[in-house]
Amino acid sequence: MSRVAIFGGTFNPPHRGHVEAACACVRQLALDKLLLVPAGLPPHKSLPQGTPSPVHRLRMAQLCAREIPRAEVCGIELRRQGKSYTVDTVRELSRRFAGDTLWLVVGDDMLESFERWREPQEIVRFCRLAAVQRKPESANDICACAEKLERDLGAAVDIVHNSVLPLSSTQYRDSGKEGMLLPQVAHYIEDNGLYRPRPSLAQVREKMESTLSPKRMRHTLGVEREAADLARIWGEDIEDARLAGLLHDCTRELSVQKQLNLVEKYGIINQYDPDEYPQLLHALTGAAEAQHRYGASPAVARAIASHTVGAVNMSLLGKIIFIADATEPGRDYAGVDELRQTARRDLNAAVVASMEQTDRYLRGQGKTPHPAAAAALMAMKREILK
Ligand SMILES: [Fe+2]
Ligand SMILES: [Fe+2]
Repeated sequence: MSRVAIFGGTFNPPHRGHVEAACACVRQLALDKLLLVPAGLPPHKSLPQGTPSPVHRLRMAQLCAREIPRAEVCGIELRRQGKSYTVDTVRELSRRFAGDTLWLVVGDDMLESFERWREPQEIVRFCRLAAVQRKPESANDICACAEKLERDLGAAVDIVHNSVLPLSSTQYRDSGKEGMLLPQVAHYIEDNGLYRPRPSLAQVREKMESTLSPKRMRHTLGVEREAADLARIWGEDIEDARLAGLLHDCTRELSVQKQLNLVEKYGIINQYDPDEYPQLLHALTGAAEAQHRYGASPAVARAIASHTVGAVNMSLLGKIIFIADATEPGRDYAGVDELRQTARRDLNAAVVASMEQTDRYLRGQGKTPHPAAAAALMAMKREILK
């Protein structure tokens, strides 16, 4: 029989207060497992504007889980449609952990309102409550609350002491105090451009319309659509995928000289000789323009930079853009249907298949693929073997 706790929250963003409280639960309740459960749509509050998508909140929670012994992230509330009611989560998890002892972790403030939650008597039928006491002075209140719940609902309440200063995500969002966050979460926020205004897809689409030729624009819209589709399937942020798709070829039609000017302007380290590989430079200049001119995040820019030959350590978004470029609805070369299907079944296999196809094609034409393409292919094959 295992001891399992459910630790829910919007994690918008997750901060040191969450990590400390979760560690205290693991220690004091001698847990075998602690599940961090990011909420989809919490019933008691609407998520503030600018809240990162479920994908980003899930990944930030995963970064925190690595710092909490025996913790893992559970995405059931994000997959469920509509509001996230704790009772539904508890019911589902009690089936998954039948025979184990389950706790639901609640903050001391939430304990007070517990009887007003949906079906509180059902919740306590499935699990014990772990009330995290955040302030020493609230000891009496929390005990009174616990006794009342025990009396009224037959709840079993365990109190977890946590001496860390109370922190809240609202504090971070209002004042941007980075010290409240684990460094890896702060870096994730920066890299993905979270909690700052995001470029408007409609405006970028309009801008591309006036910049690109009609043929390139058709391709661009196709890549945007295909990337969004793949993002939905593989759990990537759909808006990021759309933006990367829209911008991936934003410098594709510029002359070599104009591209070289951008190399100079942005201080790009250019590994592509424009005489030998005239088609490749636009991935790097496009990435720089996407980030600095259109306001895309560094993560979106990296995905654009790797869309021509791939890269070592490609991100999920990078793989999606790489494949969407090759399989958008306007593509009709031999084998494209099979590649589309592979991309929906096994994204890594599709990336390898597409890289190998290009490799064969170039060699068939008597050309040598760029060394970066060979390195990316080798790295992808290693990833598949892992
Ligand atoms: Fe391209
Ligand atoms: Fe393209």
